[in-house]
Amino acid sequence: MYDFYADTKTKPTDAMRKVVLDCAVGDEQKDEDPTTTELCSRVTRLLGKEAAVFLPSGTMCNEIAIKVHTNPGDEIICAQSCHIINFETGGPSAISGVMIHAIPGESGIFTPEQVRGCLRPDSRYMPISALLCVEQTSNLGGGAIWPLEQLDEVANVATEAGLATHMDGARLMNASVKSGVPAARYAQNYDSVWIDFTKGLGAPVGAVLAGSKEFIANAWRLKQRMGGAMRQSGIVASMCLHALDHHVSRLADDHDLAENLGREIGKLPGVKSVMPVETNIVIFDLTEEAPNAFELVGLLKAEGVLVGAFGERRIRVVTHLDVNPTAGDMLLQLLSMHLGIVEEKNAEISI
Ligand SMILES: Cc1ncc(COP(=O)(O)O)c(C=O)c1O
Repeated sequence: MYDFYADTKTKPTDAMRKVVLDCAVGDEQKDEDPTTTELCSRVTRLLGKEAAVFLPSGTMCNEIAIKVHTNPGDEIICAQSCHIINFETGGPSAISGVMIHAIPGESGIFTPEQVRGCLRPDSRYMPISALLCVEQTSNLGGGAIWPLEQLDEVANVATEAGLATHMDGARLMNASVKSGVPAARYAQNYDSVWIDFTKGLGAPVGAVLAGSKEFIANAWRLKQRMGGAMRQSGIVASMCLHALDHHVSRLADDHDLAENLGREIGKLPGVKSVMPVETNIVIFDLTEEAPNAFELVGLLKAEGVLVGAFGERRIRVVTHLDVNPTAGDMLLQLLSMHLGIVEEKNAEISI
C-alpha cells in the first residue's frame, strides 16, 4: 500500500526506533524525564517562546490553549476550514464553553479586515471576543502558507482589541522549510503556538505547545486535569528529538513531490481544478463526468494506493516520509487510468 491519505500515516524509521533504546527517562509529570525536558527546551527555542509542554497530540494542544485563553461564554475567531472547527468533536464548546466566529473562505487564510469585522463591540448583550486562531499551514486550504506580513497583521488587529492569539502549527515546519522564514518569526506575534511530531516529522506520538511561562503553567494544570500528564515519556520524546535532528530539512522532498503531483494531476481530463500546491498537500476537484471522490478512493485502494475523499468531488493527497517519487508515479498512473475516462468519452462522441 502507498498511503497518500495523510502525513499522519508515517511509521517510525529504523533509526528513529533505535534512539529509544538509549534514551534517559523519568517521571514526566514531576519534570524528571530528561529527554522530555530536552525536547521542550528545544521547541521553546525553536518557537521563540519562554516555555513549552509535551502533549500527546496536536488536538490536545489546541483544546488546552483555547481553554487557557478564554472563559465560558467567550467567542473565538478562526477560519471556517480549520481543524479546530471541523475535526475536534466540538471541543471548544464542550471543554471551554466558547462560541466560534468562523471566517469564511476556502484557503483558510483571512484578512485583517475580516478579523476586524468579527470583533464584538463592548456590549452587555454580546459574547466577548477573546481569542484569534490561525493554522499555519492551512490543511483544508491545500497546505497554503500564510504570508508573514498577513500573519502579523491579523495578530496585531486581535492584540490591539485585547484578544489572545493562538497558532495551530501542525505543519508550521513545512511552512518554514518552504519559505525560509524561521518558525519563531512566524510565531512571533502569537501568544501560543505548537508543532506536531506525528505529521511530516514522522514520529509516532507527540506535539509540543509553547508560550509564556504563565501560559504553560496553566496549560500544565489542564494537561493534568484532562489526564494527559505522562510518566516515562522520554520513550516517545526521544523519537521527536530524532525527528527534529533528521526530518526537518527533508520536508523539502515532500514539497517537491507534491508540486510535481499537482502539476501532473492538473493535466488529467477528469480533474476540474487543483488548488495551488505550496507545501505537501494536493487538493483537487473532479469533473462531473469523472467517478465521484468516494468511487475513486475505492478504485485506487483496490490497486494499493490510498488517498482521501473530502466531499463528493474533492480528493486530498498528502506527501510525507513514507511515500517517494516511485509511489508518486504509481499514483499518477492509476489516476490517469481512472480520470482519462472523460477524454475517451469525448473522443467517442466526436467520432
Ligand atoms: C491543522 C491541524 N491541526 C491539528 C491537527 C491535530 O493533530 P493531532 O492529529 O496530533 O491531534 C491536525 C491533524 O491532522 C491538523 O491537520
